[in-house]
Amino acid sequence: MIKLTQTIQDLPHSPTLWANDLVHQKRKSNETVYHMGFGESPFPVPERLNIALGEAAHRKDYLPADGLPELIEAVREYYRPLLGDDYVDNSDILITPGSKLFLYSVQMAVEGDLLMPVPSWVSYGPQAHMLHTQVVKVPARLDDEGYHIDAETLRAAIHEGRKAGKNPTKLILNAPNNPTGLVIPDAELEAIAQVCREEEILIISDEIYGLVDYENTYRSITKYAPDITTVSTGLSKHLSLGGWRIGVGFVPKALGGLHGALRVITSETWSCVPSPIQKASVEAYKRHQDVEDHIKACTEVHALMNRTISDGLKAHGIICPRTQGAFYNYPNFEPFRQGLAANGIVTGQDLHVTLLEKYNLAQISGKAFGENADVLTLRLSGCDYDGAVALAAYQAGEELNYAFVQKYAPRVIRAIEIFGEFLDAYAKPKTDSMIPVYSVSETQTSRAARK
Ligand SMILES: Cc1ncc(COP(=O)(O)O)c(C=O)c1O
Repeated sequence: MIKLTQTIQDLPHSPTLWANDLVHQKRKSNETVYHMGFGESPFPVPERLNIALGEAAHRKDYLPADGLPELIEAVREYYRPLLGDDYVDNSDILITPGSKLFLYSVQMAVEGDLLMPVPSWVSYGPQAHMLHTQVVKVPARLDDEGYHIDAETLRAAIHEGRKAGKNPTKLILNAPNNPTGLVIPDAELEAIAQVCREEEILIISDEIYGLVDYENTYRSITKYAPDITTVSTGLSKHLSLGGWRIGVGFVPKALGGLHGALRVITSETWSCVPSPIQKASVEAYKRHQDVEDHIKACTEVHALMNRTISDGLKAHGIICPRTQGAFYNYPNFEPFRQGLAANGIVTGQDLHVTLLEKYNLAQISGKAFGENADVLTLRLSGCDYDGAVALAAYQAGEELNYAFVQKYAPRVIRAIEIFGEFLDAYAKPKTDSMIPVYSVSETQTSRAARK
């Protein structure tokens, strides 16, 4: 018999993969499910990349641990305008099986504990746990415009962490952000960079959604802290190629041995990203007009879908800052706390379970993103539609407007309505006649129609 390590026993299953499996099970048994639980971009592979992968299929040799030189150079040129000449010229680049393993490897290579804003993507904390390092939480502040990482809150978290015997040495930053869908304003980036420099903190900047940027508002912190920032990116999000497992990491030469350490980790584990994938990916970094147009069109459709969700939820009275990038909204149900509590909903998990069980609406509770249990937030992904059909319609000239969402993403529209019905049923003081009886059906009248 084997015995699993304590580290693994203590690790919960990924909530996003769990939600995805549950939705697939329910759909197999012909239930109508509204899937806001999994952030997978639904668009097809651009034809140029399909062809390039076919042509590269015969390639079978191991590649250098840091990646195919031709790909590394293409990546460097592609990111010049985004990260700055200075940064790309003074950094080494590493090709990894998804950016997730770059993030994991950096955490492994750099001594000390992880400063993690809350909310943050689901995997940073578990990765720290797998590496036996601790997490020092940095609470983000919510206002009308969104979530903010205040420099002085960050500094206080560093100092308190140290006082408590922890050793915070690395800060994870992510923008456009999963789960909030927001970018970090320039002035905040500058202030964060200054604290990190003064406190000798490495910045691990997760920029995987950098090109899923709805209004060209995203900026990299490399502008303010080029010598102490690693950047991770890849093709999973803006080109919907998550299953290709191709990630890219930038490592400033100023960080001494870090690049060498990452090469060692690579050579002792996955050796290299598959050669056909690396060769085909070169075409994604050549600024071919057709590929660039595809990225832009996909981002515009993401913006339409996710902003329809932000606006729809806001119209129900839910706090939901208008999303600026990625595929997400992160609504906060605090204005309904009292009514929800009267109906037994007092935690984010209660919210999550009620919407899933009573309405077949899959989403993830804020707890998975580091929040305390009583925080009433959910992460919603706006990807539940046929991306190939929607993209083709847009490319054929259909306008991106509410009617487009109704036509090509009816489950997204229905999910927004369900939030209204849920609040009608659960956020008002409970009387006997209001105990909700609900069965899911596509044909139910909308909240607006009932009013
Ligand atoms: C914030 C964030 N970072 C990193 C990743 C990892 O992406 P990949 O490993 O596919 O590059 C994801 C994927 O869901 C993500 O949402």
